[in-house]
Amino acid sequence: MASKRVAVIGAGPSGLAQLRAFQSLAQSGVEVPEVVCFEKQADWGGLWNYTWRTGLDEYGEPVHGSMYRYLWSNGPKEGLEFADYSFEEHFGKQIASYPPRAVLFDYIEGRVKKAGVRDQVRFRTPIRQVDWNESTQQFSVRSHDLIRDVETTEAFDHVVVASGHFSTPNVPQFEGLDRFNGRVLHAHDFRDAVEFREKDILIIGTSYSAEDIGSQCWKYGAKSITVSHRTAAMGYDWPDNWVEVPLLTSVIGNTCTFKDGTTKEVDAIILCTGYQHHFPFMSEDLRLKTANRLATADLYKGVAYVPNPKLFYLGMQDQWYTFNMFDAQAWWARDVIMDKIEVPDDTAMQADVADRVMREDAIGDDYDAIRYQGDYVKELIAETDYPSFDVDGANEAFFQWKKHKKVNIMTFRDNAYRSVITGTMAPVHHTPWKDALDDSKESYLANG
Ligand SMILES: Cc1cc2nc3c(=O)[nH]c(=O)nc-3n(C[C@H](O)[C@H](O)[C@H](O)COP(=O)(O)OP(=O)(O)OC[C@H]3O[C@@H](n4cnc5c(N)ncnc54)[C@H](O)[C@@H]3O)c2cc1C
Ligand SMILES: NC(=O)c1ccc[n+]([C@@H]2O[C@H](COP(=O)([O-])OP(=O)(O)OC[C@H]3O[C@@H](n4cnc5c(N)ncnc54)[C@H](OP(=O)(O)O)[C@@H]3O)[C@@H](O)[C@H]2O)c1
Repeated sequence: MASKRVAVIGAGPSGLAQLRAFQSLAQSGVEVPEVVCFEKQADWGGLWNYTWRTGLDEYGEPVHGSMYRYLWSNGPKEGLEFADYSFEEHFGKQIASYPPRAVLFDYIEGRVKKAGVRDQVRFRTPIRQVDWNESTQQFSVRSHDLIRDVETTEAFDHVVVASGHFSTPNVPQFEGLDRFNGRVLHAHDFRDAVEFREKDILIIGTSYSAEDIGSQCWKYGAKSITVSHRTAAMGYDWPDNWVEVPLLTSVIGNTCTFKDGTTKEVDAIILCTGYQHHFPFMSEDLRLKTANRLATADLYKGVAYVPNPKLFYLGMQDQWYTFNMFDAQAWWARDVIMDKIEVPDDTAMQADVADRVMREDAIGDDYDAIRYQGDYVKELIAETDYPSFDVDGANEAFFQWKKHKKVNIMTFRDNAYRSVITGTMAPVHHTPWKDALDDSKESYLANG
């Protein structure tokens, strides 16, 4: 097994889950393959590694980061807790349920620091090209060491793509944007709500970025928030200076016109219109092409690439579950690589994908969608030694979260839930979210 080589692309939560999965096996005395993780940023943590940069970075690489200052978890931490590394183990106490970015970064990092896997990551080394070599039955992987400006091609038996899918923006066109007199940006480039204090802003989109960026702008003093929808309004009980309108049809100067004929003068337009699965470094026969949904195209068990199951993609689903789902996938991929789990023939793999798609298409509401993804996590962890945990309890935390959002979209983060890993109830945070302007780790972890 030691002679096998595995390339992991990306050191975000998914890639780090893969490193931890192999390390946990090695720790139990099993000989594991050589694992090399390639990360284009200077540090690990993926999206949770905040950068002020937008556009291109200091090496001319597209900036990966889509996170912004003052971002707090949008779902309860009880839904994402690592089963092998609890919040209490990391922080030495139970903490409140909606941690800000810096706190979650610290938690993600704590597990991999403990595992001692940092020397397996080649930082500042983006992958440029991955090809399959039929004659050697290996992947040819070309990486670029940005610091030395040297490209290297190496052979690997398996490739695990963990490069995320919330980084390359989906940017639609609206008539008149080219002559708009204010700032137009995509959520990917949003960094600080303070920029929009006293401004009238228009947000396009109705999903998590729209809801959260609008809420951030409201919290930090925007004058008004107008949210334009293509399909349906979000329908929360918004504050007085927040309205929902139909889709933007045109912009003339600063005046935006919507499908129902109403207009609004705005200072800035923020496109919260989602992201693309974008893998320019994968040769076309290896490139995942899928929509952002719970049942991805072409992935057996949501992980192994059907046309070539020596290749794995982690975290490519739309996400209710995050860190613990990435773990379940990484443990499962590890066991395929270790020849402990066998992948079936092509027909059976395609049937598995079709079945997942069909079951997702039959989902009635968000509660069923949460159950669906919870069942998927259960399915994977039942096949490996990832510590079993109460997935139904985690589903329940998500159900409560949805109800709390309906009650009041600006106070849902003031609620607390019970850990399904340690059984401990989280404390209520010392300051209501809307008044907590300091999002530092020190402030969040301070008692009372
Ligand atoms: C604004 C925003 C807020 C979010 N908030 C939450 C939240 O509150 N709670 C939650 O659970 N989830 C949240 N998410 C979901 C998020 O997708 C996951 O939490 C998680 O970061 C996904 O991990 P990942 O490792 O799959 O991808 P990423 O975190 O995107 O990490 C991918 C890594 O791959 C690297 N990479 C990319 N291309 C290459 C290449 N060619 N070569 C080498 N390295 C490469 C990147 O630099 C990056 O480090 C949020 C997402 C966004 C966009
Ligand atoms: N605080 C936080 O934790 C936080 C904050 C932000 C984001 N996130 C995470 O980031 C991830 C991505 O969320 P996201 O909201 O950026 O993307 P998303 O969930 O994919 O939603 C995309 C939105 O864009 C709309 N849209 C797409 N094309 C459009 C077009 N041409 N015209 C009008 N509207 C269009 C969609 O509308 P339709 O419904 O009409 O398709 C949808 O509302 C999620 O995992 C989320 O949890 C978390």
